[in-house]
Amino acid sequence: MLIQKKILHNVSLTAHPQGCARYVHDEIAWTRRAATGAISGYVPYDMEHAPERVLVLGGSTGYGMASRIVAAFAGNAATINVSVERQPAEKKTATPGWYASRVFEQEAQRQGLFARSIHADAFSSETKRMTIDLIKEHLQTVDLVIYSLASPFRTDPETGTVYRSVLKPIGAPFSALSVDTGTGIIENASFEPADELQIAETIKVMGGEDWLLWIKALKEGGCLAPKAKTVAYSYIGPHLTYPIYREGTIGKAKEDLERTASVIADTIGVPAYISVNKALVTRASAVIPVVPLYISILYQVMEERGLHESCIEQMYRLFSTNLTSDAPTQLDAEGRIRMDDREMLPEVQREVEARWNRQIVGQPAIDGDLRTFNRDYDRIHGFGYDDIDYTKDISPTEI
Ligand code: NAI
Repeated sequence: MLIQKKILHNVSLTAHPQGCARYVHDEIAWTRRAATGAISGYVPYDMEHAPERVLVLGGSTGYGMASRIVAAFAGNAATINVSVERQPAEKKTATPGWYASRVFEQEAQRQGLFARSIHADAFSSETKRMTIDLIKEHLQTVDLVIYSLASPFRTDPETGTVYRSVLKPIGAPFSALSVDTGTGIIENASFEPADELQIAETIKVMGGEDWLLWIKALKEGGCLAPKAKTVAYSYIGPHLTYPIYREGTIGKAKEDLERTASVIADTIGVPAYISVNKALVTRASAVIPVVPLYISILYQVMEERGLHESCIEQMYRLFSTNLTSDAPTQLDAEGRIRMDDREMLPEVQREVEARWNRQIVGQPAIDGDLRTFNRDYDRIHGFGYDDIDYTKDISPTEI
């Protein structure tokens, strides 16, 4: 079939197998070079202290996939990924994470590394049991658990109740500039505040409860190595996006996730860390209102200063500077690892704000790098590569 880009409400409905393969191969190639110290600004990978058996929850796309690639292709780690992805059919493409996981596993196998994926709901107790069985059968234990899930809903494993997360402000309506990523036109976006139930449900989905359940289950299942640690990903961002992000429903969930790090450490005895990552285009972030305009301006400002990083560069820096030692060395006052350090530099934020204030509703975005935003979004789904022939008939099941 002809596999072409189809986007509805900022969500891509298709994925190209060859393009997804290309995306993963590029990230792997970059990682291999970085690990040898060949990329300026990135330290060689410390193999001696690198995690050897890594479980990535949400390891099929975005930050989770990049974490898995660094663990395996910089550190030779055995990896297990748990993620929800749609399989391909004769006339329907898979989701990009399905192709990406496949390609990752083919490449890992070529290098003699153990790599498996469980494509199932990470929030369920059954998936936790399956994962524990897989670890016991092949790895005995893991020494690092990455928690990188981004989901719009969660079924409570005890009660079966389905909770939905919303991206809304709290307390008062919020209106801000946004960009239509299709037309590039600036618009005004307004949001009604969330009610108490929506706040609670968002915390249920994106807060720390499931992270805690995972670490508890792995510990009770005897699957954690004596020096095992766990890391979950969070975001703070600038004042510009506070009402819809950090001070909104998702921010409340992230605060809960961050508090859960000390609950895990204190009650289960497993060192647990938060890594606050940079804003980047992923399947999850592209649907957050206001964020695409912020990201496209941020990209341009950071690119001009030679500070821009993508998922793989962020995760390489996280692993090579903070996860290949007994404990992370660069924690902020709240005990969090700050991979958003370059994004949050005062000079970067001042410039982003100045460019933000130049935008005019109804006009094309000024100064922002929407092309890179759209290119990155396309590439996550395997589109936009010059050397792939998108007019060629291919099978969505072949990878
Ligand atoms: P993503 O959409 O690329 O990845 C989400 C992952 O979660 C995928 O592997 C998906 O299959 C998996 N997933 C979703 N629901 C699942 C379920 N029920 N069971 C199993 N797997 C499931 O998103 P991204 O952006 O990489 O997000 C990962 C984490 O990083 C999130 O916690 C996000 O808040 C955080 N983060 C993202 C930033 C960004 O700008 N993209 C910035 C800072 C933190």
